[in-house]
Amino acid sequence: MKKTLVFLILISTTFNLHAEDGHLLWLRAKSTGKVTIVCFSKSSTIAIAKQELEQSWQGKNGAKLLLTIKKSKAIKGDGFKISENEIQANTELGILYGAYELLRRQQTGEAIQNEICNPSYERRILNHWDNLDGSVERGYAGKSIFWHDMEKGYAVTDNDRILWKEYARANASIGINGAVLNNVNSSKLMLTTECLQKVKAISEVMRPYGIKTYLSVKFSSPTLIGGLKTSDPLNSEVIKWWKDKAKEIHKIIPDFGGFLIKANSEGEPGPQDFGRTHADGANMLADVVKPYGGIIMWRAFVYEINSKDRAAQAYNEFMPLDGQFRDNVIIQVKNGPVDFQPREPFNPLFGAMKKTSVMPELQITQEYLGHSEQLVYLAKMWEEFLKSDTHQEGVGSTVARTTDASIFPQKHTAIAGVANIGLDTNWCGHHFAQSNWYAFGRMAWNNQITSEKIADEWLKLTFYPIEEKDSKVSDWKKNFLEPVKQLMLESHEAAVNYSMPLGLHHIFAGLNNTHYGPGPWFGPKGIRSDWTAAYYHKADASGIGFDRTEKGSGAVNQYHEPLKSQFENIETCPEIYLLWFHHLPWDYKMKNERILWDELCYTYDKGVKEVREFQKIWDKAQPYIDEQRFFEVQSKLRRQSRDAQIWKDGCLLYFQQFSKRPIPFDIERPVYNLDYLSKTDLTDYLK
Ligand code: GCU
Repeated sequence: MKKTLVFLILISTTFNLHAEDGHLLWLRAKSTGKVTIVCFSKSSTIAIAKQELEQSWQGKNGAKLLLTIKKSKAIKGDGFKISENEIQANTELGILYGAYELLRRQQTGEAIQNEICNPSYERRILNHWDNLDGSVERGYAGKSIFWHDMEKGYAVTDNDRILWKEYARANASIGINGAVLNNVNSSKLMLTTECLQKVKAISEVMRPYGIKTYLSVKFSSPTLIGGLKTSDPLNSEVIKWWKDKAKEIHKIIPDFGGFLIKANSEGEPGPQDFGRTHADGANMLADVVKPYGGIIMWRAFVYEINSKDRAAQAYNEFMPLDGQFRDNVIIQVKNGPVDFQPREPFNPLFGAMKKTSVMPELQITQEYLGHSEQLVYLAKMWEEFLKSDTHQEGVGSTVARTTDASIFPQKHTAIAGVANIGLDTNWCGHHFAQSNWYAFGRMAWNNQITSEKIADEWLKLTFYPIEEKDSKVSDWKKNFLEPVKQLMLESHEAAVNYSMPLGLHHIFAGLNNTHYGPGPWFGPKGIRSDWTAAYYHKADASGIGFDRTEKGSGAVNQYHEPLKSQFENIETCPEIYLLWFHHLPWDYKMKNERILWDELCYTYDKGVKEVREFQKIWDKAQPYIDEQRFFEVQSKLRRQSRDAQIWKDGCLLYFQQFSKRPIPFDIERPVYNLDYLSKTDLTDYLK
């Protein structure tokens, strides 16, 4: 204890660090000089841009900055052009985005040249899985920022408005321009007039920041709240009900963005209940919102009880409908074919649906990647996904390019991220989970940006000591920025290594359906097979892995050549996807000459060691960060180390029952018993 104190005193003579609780996110900068803003337009959005520039200006003291709204062909949508003394845009929102970009560059030291920045996607949307009772599905950062206990009804307080404003500001600063305010497993009450009044209040706060409101709705709303006998999308009364509802919504929320629909998925109602297709359902709603410029985001997250291969289902159901959707329908597809696993190949629908708009859905909240307990920087995984080459239109048909209208002439383009935001003081539960919110916005704006650049920006904005003088910058860079950035960039691979390496997937503990700890053994009697772990890993005496080759489920056929052959052929299948596509014997020889079982052991062990290293890196960085955030992250890293060990022990001891081989002797022995682990719920913190 004494030692720590002495250490801290020493530190404070070199760095001036105030406690920070993380609430300010990446928007901590204060101005270091004066700027005069000249702008001939007036609006609430422009007023925000001016205020932001004045309060955070770190450019030349006494500078003059011109904000110009002028149509330019080179500037697209809400894009902008920036230089040291001018921001030019087509729209007011473009000016606001330009202001945030200018400030970001001043703070991170990036050059500001005459440069045009256009968004990759027209709509950059957060999906909140928030329930109307204030709980958040798969949320690990406290209760909803939008909805409270039902007892409080839909009342709106001043505090709510303050929080929504901070939220809207944070989003605008990274280019996010839409929010779906409620869970995809939607409440039937969402479309009641009472509830819509609250949506109105939220959208009024968010509007000046350019955030449009969208809602998730139940497909069977006409029956559930409209009193109709059916919700058949081809029934004229049903169509009229939706038309009236859309009219009502647009009267109170004139810029309402549209609906997000989870239909015929995990028990949610949909058009198939009436013998209709996804296209029938989506098109009916698309026609209803069309007069108001609205869109329908129709999810492709579908899988059936007893299907031979869940990974193949979305493609099987949606590909035959390509070309049948209205131009204001966008099919929202999760990055991988199963469900936001630590690593999946891209969903083969990307690039394959050539006559339909398709939008990626990413999961920012860490449902399958350690909740807000573990430091996992997801941008690395999203980059891998967006840069995956679908080969659908020749080399270079990356997921990014097939979804952003570079290749196909989509009328609307969009990308969605399932939010990790709640009422916790630091918004996201883990200080580093903020980086995933930030990264989502930055990648939605620019789908070619690297995860490394984003990490660099985010660390500088979030952790650089506000009061420091320039002379200390190089110290801070060397001892904090560089090592911690490296840690972030390695964190996703580490999580894959200690949880589901080599293409393994969905082997979570199912005790409370929390998807946190390991559970390759999970499979209570009577449960549907695709909710058991063995469905995915298929471990037995003969080996391990899901055979998706032609001899197996055939899902490999959904990929375009040369990917199809590459994945099918065991010689060319990337080892990161090995057990995703192949069932292999325990003594299968890997490229490095190890047998598969040994490789599995070494990889799990490597993951654990990597997290142990992260702890050291973080502890070493202590002098360069404020106390509160240092200790909070330190304690989360301890837990992550423990849980990584539990993943390794649980999986290796379980699989060893089939492999019947020793864990290589140069690897640390398991410290937990399999029996204990299979009865342990690691998410006690959720209670
Ligand atoms: C996952 C998740 C659910 C969610 C679903 C979805 O299965 O566990 O909580 O509702 O995805 O995306 O619809």
